[in-house]
Amino acid sequence: MTDNIIEVRDLVKHFPVRVGVLFKRTVGHVRAVDGVSFDLKRGETLGVVGESGCGKSTLAQVLMRLEPPTSGTATFEGRDILKMKGGELRKLRRDIQIVLQDPYTSLNPRMTVGDIIGEPFEIHPEVAPKASRAKKVRELLDVVGLNPEHINRYPHQFSGGQRQRIGIARALALRPKVIVCDEPVSALDVSIQAQVMNLLGDLQTEFGLSYVFIAHDLSVVRHLSDRVAVMYLGKMVEVGTEEEIYEHPTHPYTQALLSAVPVPDPELRDHRQVIRLEGDVPSPVDPPSGCRFRTRCWKAQDICATEEPKLVTRVANHPSACHFAEEKSVVP
Ligand SMILES: Nc1ncnc2c1ncn2[C@@H]1O[C@H](COP(=O)(O)OP(=O)(O)OP(=O)(O)O)[C@@H](O)[C@H]1O
Ligand SMILES: [Mg+2]
Repeated sequence: MTDNIIEVRDLVKHFPVRVGVLFKRTVGHVRAVDGVSFDLKRGETLGVVGESGCGKSTLAQVLMRLEPPTSGTATFEGRDILKMKGGELRKLRRDIQIVLQDPYTSLNPRMTVGDIIGEPFEIHPEVAPKASRAKKVRELLDVVGLNPEHINRYPHQFSGGQRQRIGIARALALRPKVIVCDEPVSALDVSIQAQVMNLLGDLQTEFGLSYVFIAHDLSVVRHLSDRVAVMYLGKMVEVGTEEEIYEHPTHPYTQALLSAVPVPDPELRDHRQVIRLEGDVPSPVDPPSGCRFRTRCWKAQDICATEEPKLVTRVANHPSACHFAEEKSVVP
């Protein structure tokens, strides 16, 4: 019996690029997720970090079974998510929930918060019979730090941070085991971000939740993450514990991302080395041969164009997909 609540192996999701009047001709594929493997342990937070378009949301969609994968497997508590049907799939729809980035567009403006938070009970009446729903919704409002008396208000009557709390309450309604947080604080002011992150941390302890926590920026996930996976163009390039990734990064891309994290201490800021990445992220339709990061990498050599580096442990006790992985402290 393993302690992994989710196991993902060689997961691939390609979207066809179609052209023509009726979009019938396929001219290529967006390799949104291109061979990703990882485990999520029960009760842990796995941070997933990478630039826009690297495949983070696509990965979340496949895990939620909102998109079928092109190939690969994903299991939840040992059962294949992608093969689930009927009652098993209904149960999965309770056990894994998602919190989305934009609290402005993800809540239906014509529904009261009571209806928004209680909607999952309509689909899963076994969790809360009709007579007890209003009470449950009030409890959920309280759990996420909102006033239960505001149950009949509409989303526009709440601030951005409060709306995200509504989204979180809704995700909690069915007592899930895993919550996929897809950039839940990216649209919020920095001061509000910390409050929502703290709430998510408290809820994790209270309800024994496991999180896949997606973000653009390494600084956002540090506090909450037990482990962090760094993605680049559909692949994971480095995976390690919070300490391994932040204190002993070995992949040049991770090192570059870390060097861009704002440092509040001016002493440290003056001494650290800033790595500037050249160029843009290449197209996921036609990624570079060999190592996908090589076109922006200052370490790239001939082998990087011909041989794809595997995500294996070379140095520093954690896996890194770089032929020249080397421990380097970025922030002194
Ligand atoms: N339904 C779709 N059809 C075609 N291409 C898609 C689809 N969804 C995503 N893509 C493409 O797949 C790639 C990965 O997108 P994805 O949304 O997963 O990235 P992301 O890491 O979540 O980015 P962001 O940080 O901007 O949210 C992008 O090139 C995107 O344009
Ligand atoms: Mg996204």
